[in-house]
Amino acid sequence: MNKRIINNKPEGNIIWRGLGGHFDSMSQILNEFLDNSISNFKGNNPIIKNIVICIKELPNKKVFFSIEDSGTGFKNLDSAFSLGAQDAKDSPMNEHGFGFKHALATANPDNNTWEICSRNKEQSEKGLYTKIKASYKFEDFEAFEINVTDTPWPGQLNGSGTYMAFTCDENLFKTVTEGHSGNFGFEKRVEFLIEDVGFTYSNLIKDDIANISIVYTDIHGTQKNKNVKSVEPDFERYINPSKGTTKIKLDNNDVTVQYEFGAMRDSEHRKYYKRNMSTSGVEIRLNGRVIATNIFKEIWGIEKHNSYNYLLIKVNLISDEIQSLPTTRTSKNGIRKGDKKLEDLFGWIRSYIPEPPKSTKDIDHEVDLFEKLKDLKNRQLPDPKTITTEQNVFKEIKERIRIDLYQKTNDGLVIYEGKKEFTSVQDLYQLKMYWDGCIIDGLKPDIGILIASSHPNSVQDLIKYINQMTDSNGNNYNMKLKTWKDEGIDYPSI
Ligand SMILES: Nc1ncnc2c1ncn2[C@@H]1O[C@H](COP(=O)(O)OP(=O)(O)O)[C@@H](O)[C@H]1O
Ligand SMILES: [Mg+2]
Repeated sequence: MNKRIINNKPEGNIIWRGLGGHFDSMSQILNEFLDNSISNFKGNNPIIKNIVICIKELPNKKVFFSIEDSGTGFKNLDSAFSLGAQDAKDSPMNEHGFGFKHALATANPDNNTWEICSRNKEQSEKGLYTKIKASYKFEDFEAFEINVTDTPWPGQLNGSGTYMAFTCDENLFKTVTEGHSGNFGFEKRVEFLIEDVGFTYSNLIKDDIANISIVYTDIHGTQKNKNVKSVEPDFERYINPSKGTTKIKLDNNDVTVQYEFGAMRDSEHRKYYKRNMSTSGVEIRLNGRVIATNIFKEIWGIEKHNSYNYLLIKVNLISDEIQSLPTTRTSKNGIRKGDKKLEDLFGWIRSYIPEPPKSTKDIDHEVDLFEKLKDLKNRQLPDPKTITTEQNVFKEIKERIRIDLYQKTNDGLVIYEGKKEFTSVQDLYQLKMYWDGCIIDGLKPDIGILIASSHPNSVQDLIKYINQMTDSNGNNYNMKLKTWKDEGIDYPSI
């Protein structure tokens, strides 16, 4: 048998072209760098956890980007630059071993503008750093050690850390406003990008795992600086199971889930949580980082629809074991289908919401009854009056808890909490909570009414105790039990 060697040694630039094209948007590219920086923070817990993103508008329709962190710097250059290497991970946020190579290859397909600088603690103390720059290749690929007295560190942070930079086409940067009509200039695009980052990493920003700021300079040299804030939804109210933390099994692995099931209002953000068809549904995060959003079909077999615009289910799966979490795609812009862990997660969601109600009104039917009661009171009570089902309290502490019905007339302030059928001890405490919320916000309720079709003995007993207590103004609570019929609403009707 004759044999001959097939010479298939790849040419660096061709592989580079093949590595690119994994991402549709600038934000996804940026996320790869941010994932690595945050992963390094999580794995090494440095005292300072800063990330600085610099964006500069350049002539000839180009944009310069750099991402710098105050982490440990690269620990193992060989595996960091190898494709698919799995031995250099700091936390589960390092995954497939392709991240920053994919990102650089997509942003700089010509393999000629990128550069990476890294310094560990020892290097930074000695005024040294390591620099690797384009082009990426498989032979004679070099890293240089540089002395800061010769060429200063290119970033803005002190101590150890990593700095990655590239120049890309303006067209790639424009992807941040995709799907949004309008004529956006450089600064507006930066604002969209800031929102993207604040959304993707909201939990990590909120939990102080990373402090991300953006320094941007337009073509005229005007420089501005912004801190990235966590992008949160505006929940009108929660729906069962409301919000909390629990453990669930995904393909027999224990995973902690933080969840929020709710009905949202339109938020003040540009892109996210807009109570529309593209921002509603189920959102999945892994260790705080968003992975998939706007899921309906995979869970309930239903299409997105206007009547579900209110629905927002946020789930954050937490685990230090990457194998316990659903598998992401190599470009981390989604989750791989057909994953048993994902099926188990979807099953858990369906166990609470077998089928999403078509509108908020279908969630709690007492809402309809309160609407009727509001209309009735608006007809019956003398002016001046405010009768609303939209009054929120606890605004003083930046929360918005909606009171079922709020009635202010010359006779005083009456607040309502209600259920369609029966009340429970919890409902009475909810009413007490509204009362306390009013007081915190500077409102003084005169009567609190708990309304339902009937009240169990426990609630009738408890209300006597509560009315002996005083609120923080020193006045006794004044709670009363009523039925829908007492208030002139024909429910239950025969
Ligand atoms: N900002 C950084 N700080 C420290 N190490 C980094 C940083 N970015 C990348 N690395 C190293 O390079 C490795 C490869 O990164 P990447 O190509 O994104 O793949 P992955 O994140 O899946 O491991 C990481 O596992 C990490 O060891
Ligand atoms: Mg990575």
